[in-house]
Amino acid sequence: MNPSIINPYYDRLPGSYLFSTIAKKIAEYESAHKNADIIRLGIGDVTSPLIPEVIDAMHKAVNEMALKQSFRGYGPEQGYDFLREAIVRGEYAPRGIDVASDEIFVSDGSKCDVANIQELFAADVKIAIPDPVYPVCLDSNVMAGRTGSLDQVGLFEGVTYLAANAQNNFQPELPQNPVQLIYLCSPNNPTGTVLTRETLQKFVDYANRNGALILFDGAYNCYIRDDALPHSIFEIEGARTCAIEFRSFSKTAGFTGIRCAYTVIPKDLAKLHSMWNRRQTTKFNGVSYVTQRAAEAIYTEEGWRQTNEVIDGYMATAALIRSELTAAGYTVFGGEHAPYIWWKLPDGEKSFDFFDRLLARCEVVGTPGSGFGPMGEGYFRLTAFGDHERTKIALKRIKERL
Ligand code: MLT
Repeated sequence: MNPSIINPYYDRLPGSYLFSTIAKKIAEYESAHKNADIIRLGIGDVTSPLIPEVIDAMHKAVNEMALKQSFRGYGPEQGYDFLREAIVRGEYAPRGIDVASDEIFVSDGSKCDVANIQELFAADVKIAIPDPVYPVCLDSNVMAGRTGSLDQVGLFEGVTYLAANAQNNFQPELPQNPVQLIYLCSPNNPTGTVLTRETLQKFVDYANRNGALILFDGAYNCYIRDDALPHSIFEIEGARTCAIEFRSFSKTAGFTGIRCAYTVIPKDLAKLHSMWNRRQTTKFNGVSYVTQRAAEAIYTEEGWRQTNEVIDGYMATAALIRSELTAAGYTVFGGEHAPYIWWKLPDGEKSFDFFDRLLARCEVVGTPGSGFGPMGEGYFRLTAFGDHERTKIALKRIKERL
């Protein structure tokens, strides 16, 4: 094969995707330490089983598929109306947010949607991304050739980084260079901090003033405990003319292995709404009927109660991590409205070095902050999605052995 037929931009990316690198390191450790008892607080994968309401709905849907009169083949690429309407009723209407069911596109994951959305934009649009942030936002644009090369500091040329750190209370400033696409993520992965209404309003006003678009990753919104904090970009005045929102059942309802999410594109952005519809109908055949019935089930009264019980459980683990690390003298952020704790490493230790030290001394896995961007260097992310009792053991090991 002639190498010139290859997309050259993939070579601009670091060797492997962050969580693949981590998985490889764990596998290497395990093969060298046969009796290892590793506690995984790295990738944000849920550990609680699906709630009974969801399981019942899935069983029922499977039974429907077994009968000729209720069997379903291809569903609508945009999602079944029953789920799109349930999302409006369960997520947006109670907060008085103006989102209609035909503005919701159901998909098999926010990761895919966040990565795929950039296809709708010109190759030379300038992007702004928070630093640190979920790596998919940046990597997908690198793959599309929308950035220059990686410099020595770890920054991609041509990208505007929106620093979010303790100095600015994790509220990034507006971009200093002209940009057309702005990624925002709140509650933020990895810092576990939340953008305030004032910050979001500032970005929405900027976007509307400058003809820019905000791509808002709200995958963790259900962990927000304080109703004064915005759950959705569409709570912000003016957002319907400048924002797209991504949400997921993965972290809300433990669907990481089931796969269901949705993206909201307001009809005020008519061109993008129609382009995404064109894209999905061309490249995607929808989420399975059984999965969509499962997702719908979290919005019954009992489903919502059970869902929130699980979320409360994860938040109790987040509170435990925060309090134990703080009591041990560490500085931590996040974890109050998000399932992630952002741990400041002592003495400026590099986050990948710390990963190795933590694994070797405590057999605990977390995620090195620098994997989320240069501002993440010197930090480490722990997830509250692990089993509560195992997390207690991890914290005990950290206190005793680190
Ligand atoms: C994470 O650990 O950051 C998440 O699990 C990644 C994801 O949701 O794809």
